[in-house]
Amino acid sequence: MANHDRVTKAVIPAAGLGTRFLPATKAMPKEMLPVVDKPAIQYVVEEAVDAGLHDVLMITGRNKNALENHFDRNAELEETLVKKGDTDRLEKVNYSTALADMHYVRQGDPKGLGHAVLRAKMHVGREPFAVLLGDDIIDARDDLLKRMLQVQAERHATVVALLEVDPDSIHLYGAAAVEETDEDDVVRITGLVEKPDKEHAPSNYAIIGRYVLRPEVFDVLERTEPGRGGEIQLTDALQSMAEAPDWTGGVYGVVFRGRRYDTGDRLDYIKAIIRLAIDREDLGPELRPWLREFASELEDEPVEFVEEMPADPTGPIQTLSARDN
Ligand code: G1P
Repeated sequence: MANHDRVTKAVIPAAGLGTRFLPATKAMPKEMLPVVDKPAIQYVVEEAVDAGLHDVLMITGRNKNALENHFDRNAELEETLVKKGDTDRLEKVNYSTALADMHYVRQGDPKGLGHAVLRAKMHVGREPFAVLLGDDIIDARDDLLKRMLQVQAERHATVVALLEVDPDSIHLYGAAAVEETDEDDVVRITGLVEKPDKEHAPSNYAIIGRYVLRPEVFDVLERTEPGRGGEIQLTDALQSMAEAPDWTGGVYGVVFRGRRYDTGDRLDYIKAIIRLAIDREDLGPELRPWLREFASELEDEPVEFVEEMPADPTGPIQTLSARDN
Protein backbone atom coordinates (compact mmCIF):
# COMPACT_ATOMS: atom_id res chain seq x y z
CA MET A 1 0.00 0.00 0.00
CA ALA A 2 1.39 3.36 -0.97
CA ASN A 3 1.98 5.67 1.95
CA HIS A 4 -0.27 8.40 0.58
CA ASP A 5 -3.13 5.94 0.64
CA ARG A 6 -3.08 5.38 4.41
CA VAL A 7 -5.95 7.11 6.17
CA THR A 8 -4.89 9.00 9.30
CA LYS A 9 -7.40 11.84 9.54
CA ALA A 10 -11.03 12.03 10.53
CA VAL A 11 -13.30 14.95 9.73
CA ILE A 12 -16.40 15.53 11.84
CA PRO A 13 -18.90 18.11 10.58
CA ALA A 14 -20.55 19.70 13.63
CA ALA A 15 -21.90 23.02 12.44
CA GLY A 16 -25.61 22.15 12.39
CA LEU A 17 -28.09 24.28 14.26
CA GLY A 18 -29.85 21.40 15.98
CA THR A 19 -33.28 22.93 15.47
CA ARG A 20 -35.01 19.61 16.14
CA PHE A 21 -33.86 19.80 19.73
CA LEU A 22 -34.82 23.37 20.53
CA PRO A 23 -34.94 24.80 23.11
CA ALA A 24 -32.21 22.44 24.45
CA THR A 25 -29.89 23.55 21.65
CA LYS A 26 -30.56 27.27 21.90
CA ALA A 27 -27.25 27.95 23.67
CA MET A 28 -25.59 24.54 23.38
CA PRO A 29 -24.51 22.54 20.32
CA LYS A 30 -26.63 19.47 19.63
CA GLU A 31 -23.44 17.38 19.58
CA MET A 32 -23.08 18.05 23.32
CA LEU A 33 -26.42 16.46 24.21
CA PRO A 34 -25.64 13.61 26.60
CA VAL A 35 -26.20 10.04 25.48
CA VAL A 36 -26.28 8.34 28.89
CA ASP A 37 -23.39 10.29 30.44
CA LYS A 38 -21.20 11.22 27.47
CA PRO A 39 -21.88 13.91 24.89
CA ALA A 40 -22.92 12.36 21.57
CA ILE A 41 -19.82 13.76 19.88
CA GLN A 42 -17.47 11.86 22.20
CA TYR A 43 -18.76 8.50 20.95
CA VAL A 44 -17.92 9.61 17.43
CA VAL A 45 -14.40 10.78 18.30
CA GLU A 46 -13.84 7.53 20.21
CA GLU A 47 -14.91 5.56 17.14
CA ALA A 48 -12.41 7.43 14.94
CA VAL A 49 -9.59 6.88 17.43
CA ASP A 50 -10.51 3.22 17.82
CA ALA A 51 -10.11 2.83 14.05
CA GLY A 52 -6.62 4.37 14.30
CA LEU A 53 -7.52 7.92 13.27
CA HIS A 54 -6.00 10.15 15.95
CA ASP A 55 -6.03 13.36 13.94
CA VAL A 56 -9.55 14.75 14.18
CA LEU A 57 -10.74 17.91 12.44
CA MET A 58 -14.06 19.24 13.59
CA ILE A 59 -15.98 21.59 11.30
CA THR A 60 -17.84 23.85 13.68
CA GLY A 61 -20.00 26.93 13.50
CA ARG A 62 -21.31 29.63 15.78
CA ASN A 63 -22.20 28.61 19.30
CA LYS A 64 -19.79 25.69 19.32
CA ASN A 65 -17.31 26.70 22.05
CA ALA A 66 -18.58 23.91 24.29
CA LEU A 67 -17.23 21.38 21.78
CA GLU A 68 -13.71 22.76 21.96
CA ASN A 69 -13.91 23.04 25.73
CA HIS A 70 -15.01 19.42 26.05
CA PHE A 71 -11.86 18.13 24.37
CA ASP A 72 -9.59 20.58 26.18
CA ARG A 73 -8.30 20.65 29.75
CA ASN A 74 -10.40 22.07 32.54
CA ALA A 75 -7.75 22.89 35.14
CA GLU A 76 -10.17 24.12 37.78
CA LEU A 77 -12.30 20.99 37.60
CA GLU A 78 -9.22 18.75 37.59
CA GLU A 79 -7.88 20.51 40.68
CA THR A 80 -11.17 20.13 42.55
CA LEU A 81 -11.34 16.41 41.75
CA VAL A 82 -7.70 15.92 42.79
CA LYS A 83 -8.39 17.66 46.12
CA LYS A 84 -11.40 15.40 46.68
CA GLY A 85 -9.37 12.34 45.73
CA ASP A 86 -12.08 11.46 43.18
CA THR A 87 -9.81 9.56 40.80
CA ASP A 88 -12.66 7.87 38.93
CA ARG A 89 -14.19 11.12 37.77
CA LEU A 90 -10.77 12.68 37.21
CA GLU A 91 -10.00 9.85 34.82
CA LYS A 92 -13.23 10.49 32.91
CA VAL A 93 -12.43 14.18 32.63
CA ASN A 94 -8.87 13.58 31.47
CA TYR A 95 -9.93 10.87 29.04
CA SER A 96 -11.75 13.21 26.67
CA THR A 97 -8.84 15.68 26.83
CA ALA A 98 -6.25 13.12 25.78
CA LEU A 99 -8.45 11.23 23.35
CA ALA A 100 -7.31 12.68 20.02
CA ASP A 101 -5.27 15.37 18.37
CA MET A 102 -8.15 17.81 17.89
CA HIS A 103 -8.31 20.57 15.28
CA TYR A 104 -11.10 22.98 14.48
CA VAL A 105 -12.19 25.02 11.51
CA ARG A 106 -15.39 27.01 11.25
CA GLN A 107 -17.78 26.61 8.37
CA GLY A 108 -18.92 30.23 8.17
CA ASP A 109 -22.00 30.02 5.98
CA PRO A 110 -23.96 26.84 6.60
CA LYS A 111 -24.19 25.83 2.92
CA GLY A 112 -24.61 22.09 3.40
CA LEU A 113 -22.65 18.95 4.18
CA GLY A 114 -20.61 19.11 0.96
CA HIS A 115 -19.56 22.66 1.80
CA ALA A 116 -18.61 21.60 5.34
CA VAL A 117 -16.42 18.79 4.00
CA LEU A 118 -14.76 21.18 1.57
CA ARG A 119 -13.61 23.25 4.57
CA ALA A 120 -11.35 20.30 5.46
CA LYS A 121 -9.32 20.60 2.24
CA MET A 122 -6.33 22.50 3.67
CA HIS A 123 -6.02 20.28 6.71
CA VAL A 124 -6.43 16.98 4.88
CA GLY A 125 -4.22 17.64 1.84
CA ARG A 126 -4.02 14.96 -0.86
CA GLU A 127 -4.76 11.92 1.29
CA PRO A 128 -7.85 9.81 1.68
CA PHE A 129 -9.71 10.64 4.90
CA ALA A 130 -12.75 9.62 6.91
CA VAL A 131 -15.88 11.66 7.53
CA LEU A 132 -18.06 10.83 10.51
CA LEU A 133 -21.42 12.49 11.05
CA GLY A 134 -22.31 13.15 14.66
CA ASP A 135 -25.98 12.15 14.46
CA ASP A 136 -25.11 8.50 13.93
CA ILE A 137 -23.57 6.49 16.74
CA ILE A 138 -22.21 3.09 15.77
CA ASP A 139 -22.06 0.58 18.61
CA ALA A 140 -18.42 0.21 19.67
CA ARG A 141 -18.91 -3.60 19.64
CA ASP A 142 -19.62 -3.60 15.89
CA ASP A 143 -16.82 -2.63 13.53
CA LEU A 144 -17.80 -0.41 10.66
CA LEU A 145 -15.14 2.23 10.13
CA LYS A 146 -12.31 -0.31 10.42
CA ARG A 147 -13.95 -2.44 7.74
CA MET A 148 -14.44 0.62 5.51
CA LEU A 149 -10.76 1.54 5.87
CA GLN A 150 -9.84 -1.99 4.86
CA VAL A 151 -12.04 -1.84 1.76
CA GLN A 152 -10.61 1.58 0.89
CA ALA A 153 -7.06 0.25 1.17
CA GLU A 154 -7.85 -2.76 -1.01
CA ARG A 155 -9.85 -1.00 -3.71
CA HIS A 156 -8.29 2.49 -3.60
CA ALA A 157 -11.79 3.83 -3.94
CA THR A 158 -14.19 6.03 -2.02
CA VAL A 159 -16.25 4.02 0.46
CA VAL A 160 -19.55 4.87 2.14
CA ALA A 161 -21.50 3.04 4.82
CA LEU A 162 -24.87 1.68 3.75
CA LEU A 163 -27.78 0.43 5.81
CA GLU A 164 -30.90 -1.26 4.48
CA VAL A 165 -33.80 0.83 5.75
CA ASP A 166 -37.56 0.58 5.52
CA PRO A 167 -38.58 2.04 2.12
CA ASP A 168 -40.81 4.48 4.04
CA SER A 169 -37.69 6.07 5.56
CA ILE A 170 -35.48 6.31 2.47
CA HIS A 171 -36.52 9.97 1.91
CA LEU A 172 -34.44 10.87 4.99
CA TYR A 173 -31.16 9.66 3.47
CA GLY A 174 -28.90 9.56 0.49
CA ALA A 175 -29.95 6.42 -1.44
CA ALA A 176 -27.63 4.24 -3.53
CA ALA A 177 -28.06 2.19 -6.69
CA VAL A 178 -25.77 -0.81 -6.22
CA GLU A 179 -24.23 -3.84 -7.89
CA GLU A 180 -22.94 -6.91 -6.08
CA THR A 181 -19.22 -7.60 -5.73
CA ASP A 182 -17.35 -10.76 -4.81
CA GLU A 183 -17.57 -9.75 -1.13
CA ASP A 184 -20.81 -10.26 0.75
CA ASP A 185 -20.71 -6.94 2.62
CA VAL A 186 -19.36 -4.79 -0.23
CA VAL A 187 -21.34 -3.34 -3.15
CA ARG A 188 -20.30 -1.16 -6.04
CA ILE A 189 -22.28 2.06 -6.18
CA THR A 190 -23.49 3.02 -9.63
CA GLY A 191 -25.61 6.01 -8.64
CA LEU A 192 -26.69 8.13 -5.67
CA VAL A 193 -29.65 10.38 -4.97
CA GLU A 194 -30.01 12.70 -1.99
CA LYS A 195 -33.25 12.15 -0.06
CA PRO A 196 -35.41 10.73 -2.87
CA ASP A 197 -39.15 10.08 -2.60
CA LYS A 198 -39.94 6.46 -1.95
CA GLU A 199 -41.14 6.16 -5.58
CA HIS A 200 -37.87 7.45 -7.04
CA ALA A 201 -35.41 5.75 -4.70
CA PRO A 202 -32.94 3.51 -6.57
CA SER A 203 -32.98 1.04 -3.63
CA ASN A 204 -33.51 1.00 0.11
CA TYR A 205 -29.77 1.18 0.74
CA ALA A 206 -29.32 4.38 2.77
CA ILE A 207 -26.05 6.17 3.36
CA ILE A 208 -25.40 6.37 7.08
CA GLY A 209 -22.96 8.94 8.36
CA ARG A 210 -19.62 7.27 7.67
CA TYR A 211 -17.49 7.93 4.59
CA VAL A 212 -13.91 7.22 3.58
CA LEU A 213 -13.24 9.70 0.82
CA ARG A 214 -10.48 10.03 -1.71
CA PRO A 215 -9.05 13.55 -1.96
CA GLU A 216 -10.51 13.94 -5.47
CA VAL A 217 -13.75 14.68 -3.62
CA PHE A 218 -12.44 18.21 -2.98
CA ASP A 219 -12.01 18.85 -6.71
CA VAL A 220 -15.52 17.56 -7.32
CA LEU A 221 -17.06 19.52 -4.43
CA GLU A 222 -15.53 22.74 -5.74
CA ARG A 223 -17.57 22.25 -8.90
CA THR A 224 -20.73 20.91 -7.28
CA GLU A 225 -23.71 23.21 -7.64
CA PRO A 226 -26.21 23.57 -4.80
CA GLY A 227 -28.65 20.67 -4.91
CA ARG A 228 -31.47 19.55 -2.66
CA GLY A 229 -32.52 22.29 -0.24
CA GLY A 230 -30.24 24.77 -2.03
CA GLU A 231 -27.25 23.17 -0.28
CA ILE A 232 -24.01 21.73 -1.60
CA GLN A 233 -24.64 18.04 -1.11
CA LEU A 234 -21.89 15.51 -0.47
CA THR A 235 -24.16 12.91 -2.06
CA ASP A 236 -24.14 14.85 -5.35
CA ALA A 237 -20.32 14.97 -5.34
CA LEU A 238 -20.23 11.22 -4.69
CA GLN A 239 -22.65 10.68 -7.56
CA SER A 240 -20.18 12.49 -9.88
CA MET A 241 -17.36 10.31 -8.51
CA ALA A 242 -19.37 7.13 -9.10
CA GLU A 243 -19.88 8.27 -12.70
CA ALA A 244 -16.15 8.84 -13.29
CA PRO A 245 -14.36 5.80 -11.81
CA ASP A 246 -11.35 6.28 -14.12
CA TRP A 247 -9.96 9.20 -12.21
CA THR A 248 -11.86 8.96 -8.90
CA GLY A 249 -11.45 5.24 -8.24
CA GLY A 250 -15.23 4.84 -8.08
CA VAL A 251 -17.48 4.49 -5.05
CA TYR A 252 -18.15 1.36 -3.00
CA GLY A 253 -20.53 0.71 -0.13
CA VAL A 254 -19.93 -1.36 2.97
CA VAL A 255 -23.26 -2.80 4.05
CA PHE A 256 -23.55 -2.42 7.81
CA ARG A 257 -25.59 -5.00 9.69
CA GLY A 258 -24.69 -3.97 13.24
CA ARG A 259 -26.15 -1.66 15.83
CA ARG A 260 -26.56 2.00 14.90
CA TYR A 261 -28.24 4.67 16.98
CA ASP A 262 -29.65 7.81 15.43
CA THR A 263 -29.32 10.69 17.87
CA GLY A 264 -30.43 13.36 15.40
CA ASP A 265 -34.11 12.67 15.93
CA ARG A 266 -35.79 13.15 19.31
CA LEU A 267 -37.55 9.80 19.47
CA ASP A 268 -34.52 7.86 18.23
CA TYR A 269 -32.35 9.81 20.67
CA ILE A 270 -34.45 8.58 23.60
CA LYS A 271 -34.31 5.02 22.24
CA ALA A 272 -30.52 5.30 21.83
CA ILE A 273 -30.06 6.28 25.46
CA ILE A 274 -32.15 3.36 26.69
CA ARG A 275 -30.48 0.84 24.39
CA LEU A 276 -26.99 1.96 25.36
CA ALA A 277 -27.72 2.27 29.08
CA ILE A 278 -29.25 -1.17 29.29
CA ASP A 279 -25.97 -2.86 28.32
CA ARG A 280 -23.86 -0.80 30.70
CA GLU A 281 -22.65 -2.73 33.71
CA ASP A 282 -23.13 0.25 36.03
CA LEU A 283 -26.72 0.94 34.94
CA GLY A 284 -28.11 -2.13 33.17
CA PRO A 285 -28.73 -4.35 36.21
CA GLU A 286 -31.10 -1.79 37.74
CA LEU A 287 -32.51 -0.35 34.53
CA ARG A 288 -33.58 -3.67 33.00
CA PRO A 289 -36.04 -4.78 35.72
CA TRP A 290 -37.39 -1.24 36.06
CA LEU A 291 -38.00 -1.01 32.34
CA ARG A 292 -39.83 -4.34 32.31
CA GLU A 293 -42.08 -3.25 35.14
CA PHE A 294 -42.67 0.13 33.57
CA ALA A 295 -43.59 -1.45 30.23
CA SER A 296 -46.10 -3.78 31.85
CA GLU A 297 -47.67 -0.88 33.77
CA LEU A 298 -48.07 1.02 30.51
CA GLU A 299 -50.27 -1.70 29.12
CA ASP A 300 -53.10 -1.14 31.59
CA GLU A 301 -52.74 2.59 32.24
CA PRO A 302 -55.01 5.06 30.44
CA VAL A 303 -52.84 7.50 28.49
CA GLU A 304 -52.96 11.21 29.16
CA PHE A 305 -50.47 13.04 26.95
CA VAL A 306 -48.86 16.28 28.06
CA GLU A 307 -48.75 19.26 25.71
CA GLU A 308 -45.34 19.84 24.11
CA MET A 309 -45.13 23.47 25.22
CA PRO A 310 -47.25 25.56 27.55
CA ALA A 311 -49.48 28.08 25.78
CA ASP A 312 -47.60 31.18 24.69
CA PRO A 313 -48.92 34.18 26.61
CA THR A 314 -47.63 36.64 23.99
CA GLY A 315 -49.40 35.13 21.02
CA PRO A 316 -48.44 32.77 18.19
CA ILE A 317 -44.78 31.90 17.82
CA GLN A 318 -42.95 31.84 14.53
CA THR A 319 -42.71 28.44 12.93
CA LEU A 320 -39.21 27.05 12.65
CA SER A 321 -37.91 25.35 9.57
CA ALA A 322 -37.93 21.57 9.66
CA ARG A 323 -34.37 21.54 8.36
CA ASP A 324 -32.01 20.60 11.14
CA ASN A 325 -28.51 21.04 9.85
C1 G1P B 1 -26.81 13.58 5.59
C2 G1P B 1 -26.54 13.23 4.12
C3 G1P B 1 -27.38 12.03 3.71
C4 G1P B 1 -27.10 10.87 4.65
C5 G1P B 1 -27.35 11.29 6.11
C6 G1P B 1 -26.91 10.19 7.07
O1 G1P B 1 -28.13 14.05 5.70
O2 G1P B 1 -26.82 14.35 3.32
O3 G1P B 1 -27.04 11.65 2.40
O4 G1P B 1 -27.91 9.77 4.31
O5 G1P B 1 -26.61 12.47 6.43
O6 G1P B 1 -27.24 10.50 8.38
P1 G1P B 1 -28.66 14.83 7.01
O7 G1P B 1 -29.17 13.77 7.93
O8 G1P B 1 -27.51 15.57 7.58
O9 G1P B 1 -29.76 15.72 6.52
